[in-house]
Amino acid sequence: MTKTLLRGRLLSFRRAPLSLTDTESYLYEEDGGLLIEDGLIAAIGPYADIKAEAPESIAEIDHRPHLIMPGFIDMHLHFPQMQVIASYAANLLEWLNTYTFPEECRFVETAHAQRIAGHFYDELIRHGTTTAVAYCSVHKTSADAFFAEAVKRNMRMVGGKVMMDRNAPQGLLDTPEMGYDETRQVIADWHGKGRNHVAITPRFAITSTPAQMEAAGALAREFPDLHIQTHLSENHDEIKYTCELYPEAADYTDIYAHYGLLGDRTLFGHCIHLSEREADAMSEAGSIAVHCPTSNLFLGSGLFPMKALVRREKPVRIGVATDIGGGSSYSMLRTMDEAYKIQQLLGERLNPLDSYYHMTLGNAEALSLEDRIGTLEPGTDADLVVLDAAATPAMALKMEVVKTLPEELFLLQTMGDDRAIAESYVAGVAAKANLSNKQRETAR
Ligand code: GUN
Ligand code: ZN
Repeated sequence: MTKTLLRGRLLSFRRAPLSLTDTESYLYEEDGGLLIEDGLIAAIGPYADIKAEAPESIAEIDHRPHLIMPGFIDMHLHFPQMQVIASYAANLLEWLNTYTFPEECRFVETAHAQRIAGHFYDELIRHGTTTAVAYCSVHKTSADAFFAEAVKRNMRMVGGKVMMDRNAPQGLLDTPEMGYDETRQVIADWHGKGRNHVAITPRFAITSTPAQMEAAGALAREFPDLHIQTHLSENHDEIKYTCELYPEAADYTDIYAHYGLLGDRTLFGHCIHLSEREADAMSEAGSIAVHCPTSNLFLGSGLFPMKALVRREKPVRIGVATDIGGGSSYSMLRTMDEAYKIQQLLGERLNPLDSYYHMTLGNAEALSLEDRIGTLEPGTDADLVVLDAAATPAMALKMEVVKTLPEELFLLQTMGDDRAIAESYVAGVAAKANLSNKQRETAR
């Protein structure tokens, strides 16, 4: 049995914070000890107490003065878009047709998919993200590469083979039958293997025929425990085109509802321009609106009314995500900095406790995985991030005047990126240090 004791400042949310002074919403241990046993968190508490209970010879890692938190969770990104990031386009549909679809065609090649999968997990770990919810490409090869690499790294990942059978290049199309059969095969091959979760993944209503939407609905009925992920209400032209393709539907959300895809395990990317009726329908179904701030700004899609959706009489559940490669950073810190600015432009406040809740427990709850990830609760996976608020000279200078925990969190969010990630632990193993060791070995 491998045991490790970490020392540092522990921070873990118990529930969504109600305000900046809601200290009940989180656990904070100034001189904390966190005991890891066989990839799980075995105990947390004051360092002195945990040390006293631990075996004399235990391996100990001192992360003081850094913060130890549950690893970040990224609720929506596209694994085949690592080389699409930073593509210059006027809007979503131009960006998809000009850069994204051609690039995703390359994932029919196993060697390419495997190479990008290696880089994908390196970047997640470098940025403190220990669980992500990803779209693969339409090709089963891409899902195989994605999940095989997750098993190799022992990471808890959610992903899906994209289903798309129209309005894209030939090399990126399946058929209703293929989409159904290959998704079933991906589930059989990968769901529950290692720490993998397979998600049913119709890309969006524009690229699926009604027959394929029926097939996605059939999968949802056969596998009610699986997540479903798709896109909804991102861009005005997209919404208009979608409603033209499904003239019988009341609105965009109603299309997914019609095919049985509106449920409490459905993750809808974007949801920027929902009507009141659509927000009500999402709330009643318990579906998740996944906010992707860097993408929304980069593609000029719009300002997501996060606070307004949470404040409604019928609140909508929220997740937060990078949306690589429409998004422009792998960092959840950069992501929440942009989320903050979007709320500023809408005249709303997103406080730093709220941001860190969403990156950890909030996203875990949105995935119904809070019993495994998103907190420092004993018995859950030891997926952790270690944050250094003085990672750069400019941050260190600002830290000289920082007095409170929320101020420190806000500094990390406003100025931090991968440099502020001192370490990422995956199932109790220091994964970022392992990346640097690997790089040194390759360079030799
Ligand atoms: N809608 C359908 N596909 C995509 C995608 O790859 N990225 C974004 N941002 N929106 C989409
Ligand atoms: Zn997306």
